[in-house]
Amino acid sequence: MKKVLLSGVLIFSGFRLYAQATPPDSVYLFSYATTRDQGRSGLRFAWSTDKQNWRPIGVDLGFVKSDYGRWGSEKRMIAPFLFQGPNGLWHCIWNLSPDNGAVAYTTTRDMLSWMPQAYYITENDLKIFTPPQIKEERNKRLGIIVSGTFETGTLNKVPRSLVEGMIQKEKTDAYRHQLWNENTKEDAIRFASLKPLTVSLTPQVTGSKKISTLLVGAFFEDINYAADGGLYAELVQNRDFEYAPADKEGRDSGWNSKKAWRISGKGIDFKIESQRPVHPNNQHYAVLKTTRPGGALVNEGFEGIAVKAGENYNFSLCARMLSGNRGKLLIRLADKNGAPVATGVITGITKDWKNTGAVLNVTKTTDNARLEIIPQSNMTIALDMISLFPQKTFKGRKNGLRADLAEAIAELHPKFIRFPGGCVAHGDGIENIYHWKNTVGPLEARKPQRNLWGYHQTAGLGYFEYFQFCEDIGALPLPVVAAGVPCQNSGSYGHPLGGQQGGIPLSDMKAYIQEILDLIEWANGSPATQWGKVRAAAGHPKPFNLKYIGIGNEDLISTVFEERFEMIYNAVKANHPEITVIGTAGPFFEGSDYKEGWRFARKLNVPMLDEHYYVSPAWFIYNQDFYDKYDRSGPKVYLGEYAAHLPGRPNNLETALAEAIHLTALERNGDVVSMSSYAPLLAKEGHTQWNPDMIYFNNTAVKPTTGYYVQQLFSKNAGDQYIPAKAVYSDNNEKANSRFAWSVVKNADHLFLKLVNLLPVSTSVVPDLKDFTIDRSPIIKTVLSGNPDSKNMVPVQTTADPDEIEKLVLPPYSSTVLKIKLHEPVKK
Ligand code: AHR
Repeated sequence: MKKVLLSGVLIFSGFRLYAQATPPDSVYLFSYATTRDQGRSGLRFAWSTDKQNWRPIGVDLGFVKSDYGRWGSEKRMIAPFLFQGPNGLWHCIWNLSPDNGAVAYTTTRDMLSWMPQAYYITENDLKIFTPPQIKEERNKRLGIIVSGTFETGTLNKVPRSLVEGMIQKEKTDAYRHQLWNENTKEDAIRFASLKPLTVSLTPQVTGSKKISTLLVGAFFEDINYAADGGLYAELVQNRDFEYAPADKEGRDSGWNSKKAWRISGKGIDFKIESQRPVHPNNQHYAVLKTTRPGGALVNEGFEGIAVKAGENYNFSLCARMLSGNRGKLLIRLADKNGAPVATGVITGITKDWKNTGAVLNVTKTTDNARLEIIPQSNMTIALDMISLFPQKTFKGRKNGLRADLAEAIAELHPKFIRFPGGCVAHGDGIENIYHWKNTVGPLEARKPQRNLWGYHQTAGLGYFEYFQFCEDIGALPLPVVAAGVPCQNSGSYGHPLGGQQGGIPLSDMKAYIQEILDLIEWANGSPATQWGKVRAAAGHPKPFNLKYIGIGNEDLISTVFEERFEMIYNAVKANHPEITVIGTAGPFFEGSDYKEGWRFARKLNVPMLDEHYYVSPAWFIYNQDFYDKYDRSGPKVYLGEYAAHLPGRPNNLETALAEAIHLTALERNGDVVSMSSYAPLLAKEGHTQWNPDMIYFNNTAVKPTTGYYVQQLFSKNAGDQYIPAKAVYSDNNEKANSRFAWSVVKNADHLFLKLVNLLPVSTSVVPDLKDFTIDRSPIIKTVLSGNPDSKNMVPVQTTADPDEIEKLVLPPYSSTVLKIKLHEPVKK
């Protein structure tokens, strides 16, 4: 079809025909999913007035795509058929795979907005229609040639206005696509003749409003090796011998109980056993048999063990002597040449499982040590929970966190930390849902499990450690529990259906709800309560001050979800009115889960809703008013996951500045947006399932990104009042002006001015601060600037005399924060 450009709007020549002839009231609409991609691009459409000439609509748009099952591989739409019911509603049914008869079902009124999908094991379970009705509709499928390809689908006669709406959407989407894909690479052309801007900014004190003091927090998920091998300071990999091929769905033959372990030397062997385990939750252990002393059982750590000279490390293990008399073990850390850098001795091993340990003092710094367990005589010995921790964990906690990583998080000054995910919270299938009770108590009694991101979770970093970390850094804990359903992208794992898999059976929901109520009691109850006692026994008699709990994570807002969410929500509300429940509104800033999530939350009066979106930098530029339009009387917003994504997924100055622009909008809307957290937080180099992330690291280094510093600038310079400001621009260049953003907030002592310049030219800002009584103390000015594609940039802090800020020159591509001491309260 030929496109013409009229007054900046794309007009399809097919429609121009209508302008000349009398348009028909109805047209033919053909709907199909192409077999060329097994329906992955979703439901496609073509329309015609004569059933001969077919014009495709929105081929790249995917008006509706299958959201069933695993990302990518399973989201197929096979043999869809679309038909209209007596009340005008359109129904679409398709098969989920070519061979198992399972179907998906959704509805729409206008082909533009579709209801969340439901999935059934067979079409007979789709109670709304009888099998003969379904058969009759399916049999109407026919073949048509669209753009030279034979496609099979359904033909319907529809009002012309319906198709016009679809074509309009196609145009709007194409325009949005173009706009939201703008990036700084084209700035040299886009802004070739742009002169530096001047903006005068006049805060309007009378319009100030209260904003949330919890606006910037952190989102921790065990993704990208964030926990084991990351924040959790354990240096031994697979300490519990519980790695299993299923962690990676059998795709890595070396991923098993022996992963990261090997034998060195002769006369020594080891195998994995599971009779009489140290704990039923920890089934596997190593049996080490020595027939000629000298050999060792070796652990390579997480690609090497990094240790520092002069520091002490706590070695521990559970052991049981199976045969042999003198149970002496030499414990050694050896560098990459085999030279010992620390040694210790374990004795007194008994015939029953016993925890024992030794302190290893390291004499030489190395990044790449290995741990060796060397039996000193012939013996057969069972070993489990073989562990090595630095004594210098964050705040010296036992079973603690890696100090440098934890400090980097603490330095963000997050007002809260959300954990344990993300998708990890609701899991890959019902059996993989994260259950907090499996992650507290003695380490050997915790239940390790497969991580949905394709590795292993020891649960060593469990709920106690999360809560303790929050307390240690003054952040509120924000646990997120599954809403009784696993991730909508789950595999089937033996269930007839993947996806949400029908959710936790209703008969088990009572127990599941109790588990959530127990969590609240565990966190906040006195040691006299059943679960408060468990917390106290772990060393924390004082309550943990839990105030918020998330229920669900960007779930499909299906009936299965709704019925379970409502049960959990009602129970928490009834038993713990003091806890603020946060519901969920899907993975995007629009679409069926977003719409239905909001509708449902309003219906139940859920106090807060978790939104997620990963979008282009330009989306942030062109959606600065996203929350300006939000209803102030409904649920509050927790923007639980967001980040700017560019092709190639870097975390660079461009993405960071786009996020800074968004943060100014969040501050402006801090009366309705209560919390936000960039996602994900941590990523170990070489083990990323997701990019970009906020902090990258390896075994020895922590590498905060540019985006990290933006988050830090906003969290460290937060206020409790937002002051609107009137901006007058030197020029009427909307594209340029939209790339400058500001926010003015204050607290009792300080005024904070945040200025973002996502332009290739400098911007001069003339702030009019006459309504504030500014102290003579130096103003702290922090600037992040450089090339938009630069990574790992660090902000530069300087001080300025209050008079110097009469005119501020913001460098090209920069974010500037001014912290201004106030002398007196704001004049009214
Ligand atoms: O942040 C990474 C993932 O993105 C989260 O696990 C999930 O909630 C979202 O899809």
